[in-house]
Amino acid sequence: MNQFYTLTVTHIHKTIRDAVVLTLEPDVDGNTNGKSRDAFTFIPGQYLTFRRDFDGEELRRSYSICAARDDNALQVGIKRVDGGSFSTWANTELSVGDTVEALPPMGDFYASVDTAKPRYLAFAGGSGITPILSIIKSGLHENPTARYTLVYANRSANTIMFREEIEDLKNQYLHRFSVMHILEDENEEIDLFRGRVDTEKCRQLFESWINIDAVNMAYICGPEPMMLGIRDALKDHGLSKDQIRFELFGAAQPGRSKQPAKSVDTHSDGIAGKVIIGGKSNAVVLADGTTLLEAALAHNIDAPFACKAGVCSTCKARVLEGEVEMLANHALEDDQVNDGYVLTCQSVPVSDTVVWDYDQAGH
Ligand code: FES
Repeated sequence: MNQFYTLTVTHIHKTIRDAVVLTLEPDVDGNTNGKSRDAFTFIPGQYLTFRRDFDGEELRRSYSICAARDDNALQVGIKRVDGGSFSTWANTELSVGDTVEALPPMGDFYASVDTAKPRYLAFAGGSGITPILSIIKSGLHENPTARYTLVYANRSANTIMFREEIEDLKNQYLHRFSVMHILEDENEEIDLFRGRVDTEKCRQLFESWINIDAVNMAYICGPEPMMLGIRDALKDHGLSKDQIRFELFGAAQPGRSKQPAKSVDTHSDGIAGKVIIGGKSNAVVLADGTTLLEAALAHNIDAPFACKAGVCSTCKARVLEGEVEMLANHALEDDQVNDGYVLTCQSVPVSDTVVWDYDQAGH
């Protein structure tokens, strides 16, 4: 589960000035016995987690797949963010023929509904379009009765990623796909299409342009405040929690870590813990304030992680003994937390001992 594979960059397309779409080919000749192609079969809306060393520090960053399931291509969209080492490198230095290292696709953003003529509503903000595009393209190609409405928020017209592709899709599926662009800085003639997408904007859209009563499922991906506003509006208009799908990590990945994990003196005072992974039990000591993930990594245990921000759930484990406090949780549902699952990158122990198991979380 935590195995990185080598992929070759076979094509780079600049979708806007500061964003690229990488086409990647899993390396079948490496040490994977030709299995890597299968490992990269994906579900729409999933993401890849990349790793790369910058100045001796390993960074992991997750980017959503933007291709449709039947495109026969593995593509991710990477928008450059200020101060983002990985995204800047991918946008300015990466070339065709280079290789990158990535974990197989992960994430459970996608959900379909079992009705004869499903109607989906999707909200994307900025680079949040990448998983949404994969879901919409796949759905339009695969289900001839599915309808999609996309509300796409951007600062201005020149920051709209995949603009041409979205237009082409609209022309191809004229009766099943509609798009509304809402631009923050532009002088749109119609007020409704100008400004930020928040609860009030949604209310206006639902009054005049979108028949919210007919929507079976909504997808949201973008900056957190925008997502929370849209979620509230959807709930106010009758959608249940199960009908609202979130993907947050694209907007929430932290910058470079300022303090790389230090190795822990296992004889120092601290909380005694045990980590179960790969069928093995490993004794660890957790220094004060250390998260379960930091403790595992400091003991050279190959624990899974990606965002380290509580949003991707890659680091999920089940606590078997002891208690922890989760500092942030943007990924686990209440019933998973009640069953003892935690995000180890966000969990600090509040008991005298703690035992956690990655195997029970499917790693
Ligand atoms: S590493 Fe992403 S939630 Fe912990």
